[in-house]
Order: sequence, then structure tokens, then C-alpha cells
Amino acid sequence: MSIELKTEYWEDLDAREAFKTFILDIHGLDFTEWEARGYWDNAYTPFSYFKDGQVIASVCIYLLDAIIAGRQTKLIQISGVGTHEDWRRQGLSRELTDLGLQWARGQHEGVFLFADEEAIPYYERCGYSSLSETLEFYHPEQVPNKQGLIHLDPSNQEHLDKIYNYAKNRAPISDKFSVFSSKLLMFHALYTIRNNIYEIPDLECLVFFGREGDVVNVYDILGRTIPSFEKIYPYISSEADRRINFYFHTDKLGIRKIQTDIITGNNTFVKESFPVSAPAFPFTSRA
Ligand SMILES: CC(C)(COP(=O)(O)OP(=O)(O)OC[C@H]1O[C@@H](n2cnc3c(N)ncnc32)[C@H](O)[C@@H]1OP(=O)(O)O)[C@@H](O)C(=O)NCCC(=O)NCCS
Repeated sequence: MSIELKTEYWEDLDAREAFKTFILDIHGLDFTEWEARGYWDNAYTPFSYFKDGQVIASVCIYLLDAIIAGRQTKLIQISGVGTHEDWRRQGLSRELTDLGLQWARGQHEGVFLFADEEAIPYYERCGYSSLSETLEFYHPEQVPNKQGLIHLDPSNQEHLDKIYNYAKNRAPISDKFSVFSSKLLMFHALYTIRNNIYEIPDLECLVFFGREGDVVNVYDILGRTIPSFEKIYPYISSEADRRINFYFHTDKLGIRKIQTDIITGNNTFVKESFPVSAPAFPFTSRA
């Protein structure tokens, strides 16, 4: 039997199941909880080759909302890329990517992706170039800790609904450069930063953050408006804090002493005409 191309097949539940099995096999990633909780995203469009009902190669084209210099736009993230071992080096992955980008033509301003280490030679071979990213940080002054931070637990349905509600109604985290999707954010809430979600009811916002020693990593801030960090910090501060890293641009946070590092070699790849140089891709925009 020859191989069959399928796209936009999320309504076909057998095909969707085969895709989930494939992603689990290739990337060790189990989408079951994301799907079961109702956050499966139709904006995540698969281009897959099937054989005997199984996926043998696949690429997803994720069309995402973005802000570039205050302007609303769309960007494509390429994700869920893989070819079954028996079918590699036959041009399938490149072919699927070309088909996907052809399908998305005219709908976006740029293409980006985050490569696994071992896939870098493949992306280079396919004409992608690596992009430096910006990391913004500052050294905080000590402030007295303020009561009123609530830890949210995604296994509690009420908390999960609350997080999704914030995600759907959020203001973009940055006017300079931002990429966002409420369903992708829920993926991070359930998987990558599940234990790092806090609400500050006084400020009507959520803060996703964690600590590594004396470093605070802030992954995202969600609110209808974004409070200044001066207001937020007392709720999350600790005497031990020496540095705060932000995984997004901080232009809305009003931090006077912000510093920037340019990070190279972090496996971010783009198509040639990407419209921003050295952006900070929000942590919660990574698929
Ligand atoms: C990376 C991967 C998707 C490539 O799939 P594939 O179907 O074998 O890729 P293609 O055959 O379309 O390759 C396109 C080009 O890249 C080259 N290429 C593919 N894999 C390569 C590798 N590991 N090193 C160097 N070049 C590679 C191919 O030779 C081909 O070049 P050419 O036609 O100019 O000679 C596949 O190896 C894979 O699934 N790896 C494990 C999962 C993974 O890393 N996914 C990416 C996560 S970001």
C-alpha cells in the first residue's frame, strides 16, 4: 500500500489518535491531558503521511497571533516535526513542510521554530537560519513581602477554568513583540509550568514564576491589563532574590533598571525574512 497524505484531519478521531501515538513515540510527549481537558487547538494544523493507518512522517503548522511593534499580525511556528526511523532521508519531512507553508501562504509574516539538538543539521540543510534571542533581567532591591499570592493547581477544575479564563482575556504581554495563544498556554499550564501558576487577586492577574536558588524566572503574566512589576514583585518576593529573568519582553512592566543578554545557540530557527531580530519569544508561545 502506498503512503497517503492527510491534512486538517482533527475531526477524524482515528487519524488524530494515530498522530498522538506518533508524537508520543517520536517526542515522548503525551497530548492526552491537553486533549481531554478540551484545549486541543485547530490552529495547530497537521500535514502527515500515513501508511496502514499509522503516521510515518508529520509536520504541524501552528498559526499564532502576534504583536510586532504594536501591530497585530500572525506568525507560523513549525512544530510536531518527525519522520519514523524507517522512512528518514527520503525527503518526506521537507515535502510536508513545503506543503504546509504553501497552504499557509499569505496568512502570516514569518516562520519560526525551536529545534531539538539532533535536528539542527536537518533544519540547516532545509535553509533555516538560527536566530539570537533576547533575555531581559534585573537585579531587584529588597522589598517587604506582601500577603495575597494564591497558588493555583491545574488538577483542580475550578483553578483550571480560572487559568483558561485569564488566558482568553489576557492583554498581550508586550507591545514590542509577543506571540500568544490561549490553548497553547493551557498546554504549558498542564505540562511545563504546572507547579508555577499563581494568582494575585488584588491585581487581577496571574503570574507564572519559579525559583532556582537566588534567581526568579518569570514565565508569563496574564491580566486584562498588565500591572507594573513594581506592584507585582512584593507579592512574589523573597529576601534571597538576586536576579529576575523574564521569558518575554518587559516593555509593559515599567522596570527602570532592566538589562538584556543576547542569547545565541538556543536552537531558535527562522525562515530568512523573519520580521524581528533578536526577539524574546514568550515562554508560553513555544509549541
Ligand atoms: C529531523 C527529521 C524530522 C528529518 O526527517 P526526514 O524525513 O528524514 O528529513 P528529509 O528527508 O526531508 O530531509 C531533508 C534534508 O535534510 C537532510 N537531513 C535529514 N536529516 C538530517 C540529519 N540528521 N543530518 C543532516 N542532514 C539531514 C536530508 O538529507 C535532506 O537533505 P537533501 O535532500 O538536501 O540531501 C527526522 O530525522 C526525525 O524525525 N528526527 C527525530 C525527531 C526530531 O528531531 N524532530 C525535530 C524536532 S524539532
